[in-house]
Amino acid sequence: MDDLVALCKRRGFIFQSHEIYGGLQGLYDYGPLGVELKNNLKQSWWSSMVYDRDDVEGLDASILTHPNVLKYSGHEDTFTDPLVDCKSCGLRFREDQVPEQCKGEELTEPREFNLMFKTNVGPIDDGSSYAYLRPETAQQIFTNFKNIIDSTSRTLPFGIAQIGKAFRNEITPRNFIFRVREFEQMELEFFVHPGSDEEWHKKWVESRKQWWVDQGIESSKISLLNVTGDDLAHYSKSTIDLMYEFPHGLEELEGIANRTDFDLGSHSKNQDELDIKSTTTPNNSSNAKLAVKDITTNKLIVPYVIEPSAGVDRGVLAILNEAYTVEKLDDGKERVVLAFKPHLAPIKAAVIPLKKNNNDLVLKAIELKNSLQKLRIGRVVVENTGNIGKNYRKHDEIGTPVCITVDFDTLDKGAVTVRDRDTMQQVTMDIKKVPEHFKDLFLS
Ligand code: GAP
Repeated sequence: MDDLVALCKRRGFIFQSHEIYGGLQGLYDYGPLGVELKNNLKQSWWSSMVYDRDDVEGLDASILTHPNVLKYSGHEDTFTDPLVDCKSCGLRFREDQVPEQCKGEELTEPREFNLMFKTNVGPIDDGSSYAYLRPETAQQIFTNFKNIIDSTSRTLPFGIAQIGKAFRNEITPRNFIFRVREFEQMELEFFVHPGSDEEWHKKWVESRKQWWVDQGIESSKISLLNVTGDDLAHYSKSTIDLMYEFPHGLEELEGIANRTDFDLGSHSKNQDELDIKSTTTPNNSSNAKLAVKDITTNKLIVPYVIEPSAGVDRGVLAILNEAYTVEKLDDGKERVVLAFKPHLAPIKAAVIPLKKNNNDLVLKAIELKNSLQKLRIGRVVVENTGNIGKNYRKHDEIGTPVCITVDFDTLDKGAVTVRDRDTMQQVTMDIKKVPEHFKDLFLS
């Protein structure tokens, strides 16, 4: 973990937030390379969830959340962690995360601490007008259920996907970007006929594991955990967590829950007119029935929901961890490589003029960069520092799949040298063929 954290800072992937003021615990900022990696991961999720399927719509809803949403969802009452104080040092911890040095000390009785951030809405700060920062993106999907059904005419089964920020006032944020107070989630709420939920749950567990493997995570490092007892969320009939071997241990990367008809049922008015299977609180504040008409019986049914919910930040950490490789070279030296899958690499190609002061070489490099950039495959840079060896090392360390060197042969004969990050092999190529080679690498 220490090596990864150092590389992330040195190369501009991830920084501690507000560092010049001493930082604020549990908050991180994504730098020039981090934002590219994160965007690529989110884009890959969005493509697989929305574009590659014919049964999912997208959504981008508000972060500030009406208190009623989180009242009827059960979060006001149950979204808590048990908090204990160490009487010796005065520090506070989650009951299950007391550090070694406090374990023998006297601790207070655990008390429940609500993890939601509350904020004032409007100019009067007397506590009467407040909202929450959403603790999960899911709730706005449920509250938009009717809007999406009405505007798209979707029938079951279908899903709504959303990527966005979520906030939790974690008692002990830790392990770099693993447990933070502000993070992003990629969530799908997939609505199915009651009775078909268990089969869909199994399908989604398999499909989500495969997606992480396609992002470069070794299959053997992902295991499935059947969540039981107190760890099962109040809304869930069954949850399978995808557990990944993070640098600090085996922990949850994504949870796939069977949320039953709890959420749509809870946010509905006239619940007794709907055949809701789960236990919900009667709702006199909602003005909608979140149900669909069964075309065969003409009755309203409240769909069951299967929810694959992944953390973007945990995904970034897992992908950095998988990609991080230290290789021994023939000359005894070491090279650090971030062996990302090409579609996730923050920079797709670096174009390097052999000499930084040679105008013709630099202009040719810029011309090539622009032609590759136009393909809209991702970021391409001109690396004009004049030291080829150092540039190769740098781009290995930030995971750039190809480096293309422009030299005097390029000016005379139109030939460039293309170097592969993983094999370090260099081939001479006609400059006209580079765009096709580039497309093959990223689009095949
Ligand atoms: N909507 C369901 C839900 O929010 P969760 O298991 O609490 O379920 C889903 O969160 C995912 O969000 C987790 O698998 C994890 O990847 C990510 N996540 C949750 N809390 C986090 C935190 N404090 N920091 C970073 N990621 C977090």
